[in-house]
Amino acid sequence: MIEFWLNDQHIRTALPAGLPLLDFIRYESGQTGAKVGCREGDCGACLVLEGRLTAGALHYHSIVSCLTPLAKAHGRHLVTIEGLGAAAPTPVQKALVDHSAIQCGFCTPGIAMALTALCLSDEDLTEDRALAALDGNLCRCTGYQSLKRAVRELLLILPIRPEDRPISWLIAHGFLPAYFSEMTERLTRIAAPFISEKEKTLVAGGTDLYVQRPDALLQSGVTFFQNAPERTGIRIEESRCTIGSEVTSTAILQHPALRAHFPRLEAYGRLIASTPIRNMGTLGGNLANASPIADWAIFFLALDSTVVLTGPAGERELPLPHFFQGYKKLDLQPGELIAALRFELPGPDTFFHFEKVSKRKHLDIASVNSALSIRLEEGIIAQARLSAGGVSPVPLYLEKTSHFLQGKLLNAATLQQAQALAQEEISPISDIRGSETYKRLLLRQLFTAHIHELFPEVHEAP
Ligand SMILES: Cc1cc2nc3c(=O)[nH]c(=O)nc-3n(C[C@H](O)[C@H](O)[C@H](O)COP(=O)(O)OP(=O)(O)OC[C@H]3O[C@@H](n4cnc5c(N)ncnc54)[C@H](O)[C@@H]3O)c2cc1C
Ligand code: FES
Ligand code: FES
Repeated sequence: MIEFWLNDQHIRTALPAGLPLLDFIRYESGQTGAKVGCREGDCGACLVLEGRLTAGALHYHSIVSCLTPLAKAHGRHLVTIEGLGAAAPTPVQKALVDHSAIQCGFCTPGIAMALTALCLSDEDLTEDRALAALDGNLCRCTGYQSLKRAVRELLLILPIRPEDRPISWLIAHGFLPAYFSEMTERLTRIAAPFISEKEKTLVAGGTDLYVQRPDALLQSGVTFFQNAPERTGIRIEESRCTIGSEVTSTAILQHPALRAHFPRLEAYGRLIASTPIRNMGTLGGNLANASPIADWAIFFLALDSTVVLTGPAGERELPLPHFFQGYKKLDLQPGELIAALRFELPGPDTFFHFEKVSKRKHLDIASVNSALSIRLEEGIIAQARLSAGGVSPVPLYLEKTSHFLQGKLLNAATLQQAQALAQEEISPISDIRGSETYKRLLLRQLFTAHIHELFPEVHEAP
């Protein structure tokens, strides 16, 4: 039995685990605030809040209900626009009205929920972060300037909310209805985990699978991980970092130690999908999907990572480049799963940078992406790792170029030779994301961008 709370309503249902949550919300519960737009995670019309208990504390974030299997709602609190209460507009709704940020209203419930998720977040709120909370919402008719004004108005009120108990503050100030104060206890009472049948399709975040084959998932059934701690956490032992396969993009991007080691991590994250997709999509799903342009695959290839696999024959660990064997072909035996990814955190002498070019700046997959990590010893490159996506059938570690760089002086002549070698190592094809020539040019530009960002004093030879 799947058991959860939808707004102020206790749900127990035996409907198929793989039914999209959006369909349950609209067609089974009859609440039509969440809209059917793209059904591909792109538009945010179906965006809802998901509240989960973690170590006894209730946290909310935004998800898209079109890519969420019903059974993922088990034990959680799902909130649609109806769940914010109808007695009076919340400050979020009022800001949207006051700044004329609504025309046809189709996108408005999703936008109101995305902004309510922002109010519930425990991140420090800057204008930049607040505007980025809408990166998963499209509006076809109002335009974004009035939305920006509404967000700025909210920012006048929100910074005073206390960090330790934002939910009670948000209730007191009319952002949330009073029943939210009971949700921790209500969710605690859902004690039994949802046990899915084995031998079905494994869904992690669902953000790849539900775009690729939603109908098949409903027919064939879905199964989930059962929250094993080794797959859900980020652990750092000395300088070695292990990220569990079920860790979401958001959890990686918000991890304090990772932010300290990768000062531009938040900016890199903005290039990956959108806020609700990052709240759902996992590291394991990104690697297992085996897309040649998967952003996390490219990021971690440049960090000399290993992937930990568990299966019937036990555990094995292999270098990440060996995991990608051909187009959508992985070194993954029947019954094996990705358990985690491991890598050495960059020390003070290691410089890392990630770049991505896509047709649209936000909420788009890459035409070409690339990462570079370089460790310097007295001006000499002691170690280098260059990776690139969209230039080969697999997420590519450019082994020859990386080896060439080692032991060389970091200067214009070295970089020019590395550029030439990189062009020999890649084999891009012309497709919807660009011609072969364009992708070759992009990698050249991204390599230059890495150097420009990390070592502005070094210029490539013309
Ligand atoms: C609107 C939108 C925008 C996107 N933008 C980007 C982007 O900018 N960059 C990017 O890289 N990706 C992007 N994606 C793709 C996707 O969000 C990511 O690849 C995400 O990390 C996939 O993780 P998931 O948990 O949702 O995978 P799922 O869809 O749950 O699973 C994907 C596959 O991996 C398998 N799997 C999952 N976990 C494991 C495991 N531990 N072991 C073995 N197999 C496993 C599943 O069975 C399935 O075959 C986007 C997707 C959408 C919908
Ligand atoms: S319907 Fe467009 S994101 Fe769900
Ligand atoms: S108000 Fe019409 S789509 Fe946004």
